Amino acid sequence: MGQNQQDQDPLTRIMTQIAPAWTSLQMNIDAGNAAAVATDADRLQRLFAAAERFFTGKKMQEAADWARQEADAADAAAKAAKAGTVDKNAKAAIGKCKQCHDVYRQKNQDGSFSLKRE
Ligand code: HEC
Repeated sequence: MGQNQQDQDPLTRIMTQIAPAWTSLQMNIDAGNAAAVATDADRLQRLFAAAERFFTGKKMQEAADWARQEADAADAAAKAAKAGTVDKNAKAAIGKCKQCHDVYRQKNQDGSFSLKRE
């Protein structure tokens, strides 16, 4: 974890870790690498659980629900992978990033992203 990440917003910190884990998960699903899928999906489960806590703390119930669904889907993919099954459907189940970004993420003029409150 880079030093200046400590200055970042907690959600930014979570999302910047979700992005590479998600990229890696998709590659490992395509490759059929169950051990690596389990590692990535476990990581995503933890990160989306952290996002759920963040949104719950902000009293953003819908976003918290979506984050929990992502965590649950990642948990299911991790459990299946540990049992030796690479579930291709996990890509669709966990890949619901846009649903939340469309509603709760805004792009700033400097190109960075921040939380949009409804
Ligand atoms: C429940 C809501 C939600 C879900 C689901 C979600 N995100 Fe986000 N994401 C956000 C919000 C809100 C922001 C803007 C806040 C920020 O960037 O600080 C964001 C920002 C980001 C950023 C920009 C980070 C930055 O500030 O530079 C990336 C990258 C990202 N998300 C990746 C993902 C990926 C990949 C997924 C799906 C696998 C995903 N997100 C799912 C809410 C969500």
